Amino acid sequence: MILVFGGNGQLGRELSRAAAARAIPLRALARAEADIADGAAVADALARCKPELVVNAAAYTKVDLAESQIDEARLGNEIGPATLAAACASAGVPLVHMSTDYVFDGTKDGAYLESDPVCPLSVYGKTKAAGEDAVRRAHQHHVILRTAWVYSEFGHNFLKTVLRLAQTRDELRIVADQHGSPTCAGELAEAVLNVGAAFLHDRALAGTYHFTAAGVTSWHGFASRIVEIAAPITGRSPRVLPIATADYPTAAKRPANSCLDCRRFIEKFGFLPRHWTVGVDATTRTLVASSQKAESHVA
Ligand SMILES: NC(=O)c1ccc[n+]([C@@H]2O[C@H](COP(=O)([O-])OP(=O)(O)OC[C@H]3O[C@@H](n4cnc5c(N)ncnc54)[C@H](OP(=O)(O)O)[C@@H]3O)[C@@H](O)[C@H]2O)c1
Repeated sequence: MILVFGGNGQLGRELSRAAAARAIPLRALARAEADIADGAAVADALARCKPELVVNAAAYTKVDLAESQIDEARLGNEIGPATLAAACASAGVPLVHMSTDYVFDGTKDGAYLESDPVCPLSVYGKTKAAGEDAVRRAHQHHVILRTAWVYSEFGHNFLKTVLRLAQTRDELRIVADQHGSPTCAGELAEAVLNVGAAFLHDRALAGTYHFTAAGVTSWHGFASRIVEIAAPITGRSPRVLPIATADYPTAAKRPANSCLDCRRFIEKFGFLPRHWTVGVDATTRTLVASSQKAESHVA
């Protein structure tokens, strides 16, 4: 059985869905059921569920708020992973831990390799990098999986924000000088399940890997695609204007280059990511269809 912490997040929910579709036994715990920074709660969950594998999908992900909520960010991204990894180590259970492109500063010319030095720009990135180190120190049998630009039907994410704004605005101004690979949480969940299956059979796979969708775009390219796919269904086609990072100040600094080189992941786990447009198109269509269905019930 796989035990997931952070079960109510984007990845946590997609893990439940993907495991059910593959008939893989999986229990996903929401934060209210087990806080990863609470050693007793984690130990109790491990003792009750007796998992073969633990996935840490829990994290403090409010990137801008983290700049002022440093203690909360450390709790979710550093102390929590350290606590969970130590508990997994003493229970002898391998751990898959999720991390982020924000551990890099984005100045590299080309996609980041796992071996590239980290140099986070933000509190979120710093606490995630510290969490990675804590997991490496506490538990030999770990896989750290870095990903980027995650979206899904659930929770808060860029795709849902663009769809919402496109309903009321005639013009969207979107940053065009940050690049990355929009990654569907559903596909990420499939990747995590593949990692789990392989890692259970071969502990030598322990280490750090990168997984995102294939292809690269900017936030502007991402938004343009969402609007293009939604427009024929919603009848709403706002202009999507490119702007510079400097024109959209945020509390946290973000890397200009979020591209992660996924070749090591593909080679070791044999799972090929699809082009980013595949997941964006499907998720956009699903969300638009469900909001129209909801509206028709109201009308
Ligand atoms: N979203 C992205 O664009 C992105 C990009 C790169 C990497 N990642 C990484 O991918 C992983 C999954 O991200 P996601 O998008 O699925 O995040 P998410 O939707 O924000 O979900 C995170 C979940 O973790 C829970 N959580 C926070 N602190 C916790 C704690 N101390 N104990 C237990 N649960 C806790 C949250 O619950 P509450 O909401 O109740 O606090 C939330 O349900 C994270 O490691 C994240 O850093 C995400």
